[in-house]
Amino acid sequence: MVDAAAIARLRAAYSDELARAATAADVQALRDRYLGRKQGAVTALWREIAHASPEARPELGRLANDLKTHIDTTLSERRAALAPSKPSTPRLDLTLPARALARGSRHPLSALLERIEHIFARMGYEILDGPEAEDEYHNFEALNMPPEHPARDMQDTLYLAHPLATRSSHLATLLRTHTSPMQIRYMETAQRPVRIIAPGRVYRRDNLDVTHTPMFHQVEGLVVGEGITMGDLKSTLIGFLRQLFGEDRPVTFRPSFFPYTEPSADIFLGCTCRGAGCGVCKQTGWLEVLGSGMVHPAVFEAVGYDPERYTGFAFGAGIERLAMLLHGIDDIRLFYENDMRFLEQFPS
Ligand code: DAH
Repeated sequence: MVDAAAIARLRAAYSDELARAATAADVQALRDRYLGRKQGAVTALWREIAHASPEARPELGRLANDLKTHIDTTLSERRAALAPSKPSTPRLDLTLPARALARGSRHPLSALLERIEHIFARMGYEILDGPEAEDEYHNFEALNMPPEHPARDMQDTLYLAHPLATRSSHLATLLRTHTSPMQIRYMETAQRPVRIIAPGRVYRRDNLDVTHTPMFHQVEGLVVGEGITMGDLKSTLIGFLRQLFGEDRPVTFRPSFFPYTEPSADIFLGCTCRGAGCGVCKQTGWLEVLGSGMVHPAVFEAVGYDPERYTGFAFGAGIERLAMLLHGIDDIRLFYENDMRFLEQFPS
């Protein structure tokens, strides 16, 4: 029958064996012999204690528990003592040269957009963001392009299969073909006077080639107030182009047509060939950079502004086109291919 003396003997026997354990394998063997789940001596003790008298059981249980804890901790200590010691100095070669940090840079389109925003912010313009999925009212109709207008053609515009649920869900939803709908969106809610730019993505059904991508960026501008004139349009846009391209680049205005402006003007920048004629300007000496004009009275009527009282000018430019002219890039696709050899030429 198990008693306190038997437990003490087991403890003494264990101590002898522990003293002789010299390797990790010895320690593992001892653990199996004493604490093993099936054959372990201490494990067997528990089974015997279960048959001891109820009065003796608590004390025997305590002694057996002590022994188990003792064996457990002393075996762990011995195993730690036998473990091969780690080298005390880390294997670092401090004389190796440091690895250079790969430094990213701004994408040329982001960098240009930021410059443009700065130029207009300094002139007191508000910078707006707007939806790319647009309805045909804002993209066309309110801009004086009625349903039969050729610009609405399926050939040019990407329509969504189903209209998005909006205030006017009977209208087709499309990917905006220009940023001009932001003129309408802003005037629908804003107080006069208005002085905004709205940069963002636009979409057209174009195939990829050197001058076309189905998605590109534009920046829209709109200024509305009492007594705004064509002179304000000219001075603003000449000032903008000078800040972007330098003081000595000639700028000229030519009559044009947009349904939402009257009169309308295309703005041209003198080519770097200085009129000698080159491939970039197609031998003309001039590069088209902006569309613009005085806001058409029909547009004011669509947003509930009194065209007798208010006048304004609007303009729109392609960001990719401006970036191509600024940096002498001849293929628009380069902006979207993420070729490091291209991007690394624009450190920022
Ligand atoms: N929306 C025109 C385009 O996509 C650009 C434009 C022309 C915007 C004249 C204007 C404007 O605001 O007045 O080509």
